[in-house]
This record gives sequence, C-alpha cells and structure tokens, in this order.
Amino acid sequence: MDFKYLNKTSMKFNHFKISYFQGRKLCFKIFNMAEKLIIKNLRVGIEGKEIIKGISLEVKRGEVHAIMGPNGSGKSTLAYALMGHPKYEIMEGEVIYKDKNILQLPPDERAKLGIFLAFQHPLEIDGVRLSTFLWQSYVKKFENSNKKPNIIEFRKELKNALINAGMKEDMIDRFLNVGFSGGEKKRTEIVQMAVLKPEIAILDEIDSGLDIDAVRIVAENVNRLVKENNMGVLIITHYQRILNYIRPDYVYVLIDGKIVDKGDYKLAEELEKEGYLKYGIEEKEEVLTWKN
Ligand SMILES: Nc1ncnc2c1ncn2[C@@H]1O[C@H](COP(=O)(O)OP(=O)(O)OP(=O)(O)O)[C@@H](O)[C@H]1O
Ligand SMILES: [Mg+2]
Repeated sequence: MDFKYLNKTSMKFNHFKISYFQGRKLCFKIFNMAEKLIIKNLRVGIEGKEIIKGISLEVKRGEVHAIMGPNGSGKSTLAYALMGHPKYEIMEGEVIYKDKNILQLPPDERAKLGIFLAFQHPLEIDGVRLSTFLWQSYVKKFENSNKKPNIIEFRKELKNALINAGMKEDMIDRFLNVGFSGGEKKRTEIVQMAVLKPEIAILDEIDSGLDIDAVRIVAENVNRLVKENNMGVLIITHYQRILNYIRPDYVYVLIDGKIVDKGDYKLAEELEKEGYLKYGIEEKEEVLTWKN
C-alpha cells in the first residue's frame, strides 16, 4: 500500500473507520514486521575486560525500550557496541537487523540500514560545519535506495528540525559541537535524528545535562518520530524523568553488564523512588529523588 493514497485524516475499512495515524501504524506493523533489532546473548569487552555479560532483547519498530542502570553498569558500552565502535570487542553473540548480523558491518553500513546512535558525550569536530556533516550523512542514507538526495528538501528538513529542537538557524554554520553548550550538543543530536529519520534510534543519556524544558523538547522530537516514522527506540538513561515524557513499552535494569530486571513503565517509577538498592547498589539519595 502506498501511503500517498491514504486520506490524510482517516481511512475507511469495511466496517470501521480509524484515524490516519492508527491506520499508518497498522500498515507499518504489517509491512515492517521483520524490522526489529534482535540482540542475542551479546557479550562485549574493553581491553580484555568483559563489560556486557550476555544481553538479549528485541526492539521492534514503533516500540520504546528503556535501559536504566547506575554509573558504570555498561550502558554506553552496549550503545557503542551496537553502533560498531572499534574500541569495543565483541566476545559473543549476534545483533540482527533486516536479516543481517550487523556486528559484521562497519558503523556507516549500520547507519545506512537505519540505525542511529545519539552519543552521551557528542564529539567535537573542528573544521566541519554542522550543515556539511549532516548533508553528508543525509546523502549516505540514499546510497541503498532508488531515490536521490535533494538539497532543497534537505534544507527544509534541517530548518524544521532546528525549529523543533529549539535551536537557532545560524547553528548550522558552526563547526560540529565546537564550543556548543552541553544542552546544545544534546539538541544537535536530536536535530541529526530528526533529519536522518532512523528506523531504530539508540539514545545514550540524551537527557543528561538538560534542563526540564529541554528534556520536554527532546522527548517531543522522539515521540514525533515514533509516531510518524514508526521509529523504534532504545533509550538509555540513569534517571526516570525523561520517561515522564517518553513512555517506554519495556524497562530493563542493567547492573554490572547484565539485565537483572524487566518490567513496564511502573518499574521506572519504582526506581525513581527506591533507587537501585534492591539490586544491591547504593546511590546518593538526592540524585535519585530529583524531581522536575
Ligand atoms: N578502556 C577501558 N578499560 C577498562 N575499563 C573500561 C574502559 N572503558 C570503560 N571501562 C569500564 O566499563 C564500565 C562500563 O562503562 P560504561 O561507560 O559503559 O558505563 P555506563 O553505564 O554508560 O555509565 P554512565 O552512567 O556513567 O554513563 C565502567 O566500569 C568503565 O570504567
Ligand atoms: Mg554511559
């Protein structure tokens, strides 16, 4: 079914009428059933030390999965390993997307397949303007398709993405992340996500260092792409507060490289109140009770 033939407000099926977004979601579900990131018994090491100790989970498009865990539990290690950072050594396991074991692909091929990583600590790249960096990533996205990238379309998308992220347009002429505030760096990750429209987004502590208005803006952008593009999300976070705005379908607790608990949104609320104490991790009270 081609979406352009759908009525923008609603669709009529034999005996019932559903909203445009419900219909779109249904179509996506039918046509993208195989599109899920499958992590199978993944073990990852750094310099010979095992950090991720056998993780298995599946992120379908359109679903939001949250991984929560204390400092040093291996959250970023998992994110980097999924995206193919060379520092992280795959000791065992598979990560399948679109019938490919992506662990055998270089990072840019993983990106071309539709996987995106928002960094916990975005890199500064002196001499490369944000607009140039994004245009190059945008062009790459089209390498596997019959369509050609269109600069006018790109500019429009970029402008909208900047507005939606609450950023000024002149940021696109600045060198990537150089001199950006912590919050601007995080918003820039969101601008990249909005322009590249990934199928699966891995967001590593996208909320850290953001004030509450920025958390809300980031969440709105993520929710929009989940709804409009059926984006699957693996959101990694230390705190529950962003999950007030991005409601996860599943929540996992990661301790010492292992998933020790799994639940729904209520598990995140529990962690907000109780911390990781029941898993044997003591943290400072004020860190965990930080409310918006
Ligand atoms: N080069 C390295 N050599 C040895 N250990 C390392 C190396 N790099 C990272 N680690 C360790 O791997 C563990 C997991 O780190 P990681 O950054 O994945 O944790 P995290 O859960 O993302 O923490 P945070 O909440 O602080 O972001 C930590 O104990 C860290 O010290
Ligand atoms: Mg981290």
